[in-house]
Amino acid sequence: MTLDLSIVGGTVVTASGTGDAEERLDVRACAVGIKGERIVSLGEPQAAAKVIDAAGAVVLPGLVDPHTHLVFAGSRADEFAARMSGVDYQTIAAQGGGIASTVRATRDATEDELFDLGKARILALRESGVTAVEIKSGYGLSVDDELRLLRVARRLAPFARIRTTFLGAHAVPAGIGRETYVDQVVHEQLPAVAEAGVADACDVYCDEGAFTLSDTRRILEAARDLGLDLRVHAGQFADLGAAGLAAELGALSADHLEEVSGEDLRALATAEARAVFLPGAWRTLRQAPPHAARFRDAGVRIAIGTDLNPGTSPTSDLLLMASLAVRDAHLTPAEALLGITTEAAAAAGFSDGVGTLFEGGPADVAIVDATSPASLTYAFGGLRARTVILRGEVVHQTFSPRLW
Ligand code: NIG
Ligand code: FE
Repeated sequence: MTLDLSIVGGTVVTASGTGDAEERLDVRACAVGIKGERIVSLGEPQAAAKVIDAAGAVVLPGLVDPHTHLVFAGSRADEFAARMSGVDYQTIAAQGGGIASTVRATRDATEDELFDLGKARILALRESGVTAVEIKSGYGLSVDDELRLLRVARRLAPFARIRTTFLGAHAVPAGIGRETYVDQVVHEQLPAVAEAGVADACDVYCDEGAFTLSDTRRILEAARDLGLDLRVHAGQFADLGAAGLAAELGALSADHLEEVSGEDLRALATAEARAVFLPGAWRTLRQAPPHAARFRDAGVRIAIGTDLNPGTSPTSDLLLMASLAVRDAHLTPAEALLGITTEAAAAAGFSDGVGTLFEGGPADVAIVDATSPASLTYAFGGLRARTVILRGEVVHQTFSPRLW
């Protein structure tokens, strides 16, 4: 059999081993053979129509960003400046800024404008090696506006593997009470989203100044009954018990978790729900990061996302997030690389082996110029994938000097 593509000479990280984090990372020297949309060999180089020389580079599964809000319009740079001089996030939100200001800008944009903005952000993510992205709605906050964002997210499928998440319960829109809005999410938005078939999962922002634990339970139970996977924004500012609820309801993940009890960590571990760390948000908000040791000791597996959004995480650099997770939250470099590959895929509900390299698996690959896998989280900022392969096709190629 002649391969379509062979990647030779690189240090290969399969992220598909078993055992401890280092063993799961499974670093090898081998060639990666691709035929069609599949990896067909990990071993000796074989004849191929096209050969990519990856000598001096690290070959990884295409990276997975498990948490983004990347379909939005407008900028919140001025709000950031105000926050840096002392006004806090929740005060800005209570004054009609924050999420509400992005909702206004997003509602004013056309569907094609939102598509172009979303496409640009996915292409930026791809520069750091990302080939699979979870995208949340949540800047629409009405039936029609939420549907529009989810449709746009689905249209981005040619540029990455996409999982879409309905986040109608992101904020209470102006002019309506919280309880009335939760009724609307449960009785109007969720059924419309399920009927249109545009969402894979449902998420709720459960926190002080957002939705209560009982709101969150109502919405997530209704979503589960409609067959959606579940996620939750939990404990970004205050621990309302959302991580325990996520575990109880069989959610894929609980995300943020700057504040979380030991009991809820044990519940997450038992339920095999992932914790998703979002370093961009804790950096931007000047918050104390979570400590990986608490999660590791409880048996919780950790994924890492960009949280790409205009309010708390204006970044598209997933490798930088992995590096910050090591520096700020005490993950080991191996844990951080699992966090942006196989654990991220589990957190976002990507199946079929996305986020890992194995024979028979999807041919999504990132090649990054770096001396070793550990260099990927040693450097912070500036690492770019020299080659990105999605579904067996080279979709991104650039010159990238090896600095670290
Ligand atoms: O994940 N915390 C809620 N949602 C986002 C922020 C969204 C925004 O400020 O626009 C987050 O940090
Ligand atoms: Fe978020």
